[in-house]
Amino acid sequence: MLNKKMQDAINDQINFELYSAYIYLAMSAYFESINLKGMANWMRVQVMEEQSHAKKFYSFITDRGGRVVLSPIGDPGQNWKSPIDAFEEALKHENKVTARIGKLMELAYEIKDHASASFLQWFVDEQVEEESNVDAIIQSLKLAGDSAGLFMVDKDLATRMFVPPIGVTI
Ligand code: FEO
Repeated sequence: MLNKKMQDAINDQINFELYSAYIYLAMSAYFESINLKGMANWMRVQVMEEQSHAKKFYSFITDRGGRVVLSPIGDPGQNWKSPIDAFEEALKHENKVTARIGKLMELAYEIKDHASASFLQWFVDEQVEEESNVDAIIQSLKLAGDSAGLFMVDKDLATRMFVPPIGVTI
């Protein structure tokens, strides 16, 4: 049976993962509006990533006999100053997710919930990749400089495809 404190914290994280998806969907719309289709594609794949994270947490709660409780999702924002501004905000957001996963892990240790700690380790590792992916794009955008460079980065990001994490059905 899932500890109530852990259940509440994971329900809160489901909300944050869906909020993350909402932010990335808003960023996708922003990139569509400035005709950077590759970046819009990258963000839409990121939406699916975040939805899969929310579903992973959802299944964990139900598998342990808990109750999923959904709550309203925050305002995702609409406009960013530039592509790099959007990706820098995405990185800041991922830093927040990493900090939240760290807090969930601390709670699991505090209440000696080994099953949750084991489950959360996947997210600890995932966050290393999440931050690194966004940071790599920021570095590419810094190197790209002019519009020809931006076009190349956009072309590259158009190739991203969603691969669901093991155990998650979309
Ligand atoms: Fe679900 Fe991007 O962290």
